[in-house]
Amino acid sequence: MANVELKNVIKRYGSVEVIHGVDLSVNDNEFIVLVGPSGCGKSTLIRMLAGLETTSGGTFLLDGEEASGPGADRGMVFQGYTLFPWLTVKKNVMFGLEVNGRSGSAVEQEALQWIDLVGLSHAVEKYPSQLSGGMKQRVAIARSLANQPQILFMDEPFGALDPHTRSQMQMHLLQIWKNVDVTIMFVTHDLDEAILLSDRILVLKANPGEIHEYIENPVPRPRSDAQLLSPEFLAMKQRLEELIHPKTHNLDAELPMVRMTSTSDQVE
Ligand SMILES: Nc1ncnc2c1ncn2[C@@H]1O[C@H](COP(=O)(O)OP(=O)(O)O)[C@@H](O)[C@H]1O
Ligand SMILES: [Mg+2]
Repeated sequence: MANVELKNVIKRYGSVEVIHGVDLSVNDNEFIVLVGPSGCGKSTLIRMLAGLETTSGGTFLLDGEEASGPGADRGMVFQGYTLFPWLTVKKNVMFGLEVNGRSGSAVEQEALQWIDLVGLSHAVEKYPSQLSGGMKQRVAIARSLANQPQILFMDEPFGALDPHTRSQMQMHLLQIWKNVDVTIMFVTHDLDEAILLSDRILVLKANPGEIHEYIENPVPRPRSDAQLLSPEFLAMKQRLEELIHPKTHNLDAELPMVRMTSTSDQVE
């Protein structure tokens, strides 16, 4: 768990300001989801916080301490599978611990516990090429959590999965988050996913990227797919839709009517 404080965090690439002054306060064990139009700076922001990218200004405090560069206190899971193909599931999870200077049978035991937590005890000796997409992401999550980060950053981690697997992974992640003491910041452009997972949703806007709105998620926990059509879920989704893709004018009124068939066409 971690308490995160951002004050006026800025990112410039050359003379272009990509992130314009983000202020944010995240509570211990909070599940924050970032949404916003493509290119608004979600990945840039999360990469800065994970220490994979420098900031161009502002301050970032993790439990009151200024944070810079990657650290074992921060974990990251991306969309692409970042497992080592030549290592088994167990060795992939052990790797993160060994990189941080640990060794011996305690490391193996710990790795096995994290693998168990993500439901892959039956696959410890398998190689990544033998796993489905969902299983690979579970290994990536186990590997990140094995270092017991205070905060886990996830950038569209389920974006490459088929809808059914994705939905299973969402429920699975909620279960893990409930059982592990960790704060999560998660990027997605899938609004159902954002609402299913979050305590709070940060809506970013583009050019330059900044926070448009912070929204407390009113949908009660525990969450499940059964809520997707509940009134509060749909109202929340509509609100997000309007914030991310504001209707500026009525396009239909401007487009010429095109007849795709003539009355003599046989269309049935
Ligand atoms: N390394 C880079 N150099 C220059 N511009 C970049 C770089 N990385 C991202 N950008 C720009 O920053 C903006 C935000 O990108 P990104 O954080 O990837 O957006 P998102 O994840 O919300 O789609 C985009 O305009 C993108 O082109
Ligand atoms: Mg991105």
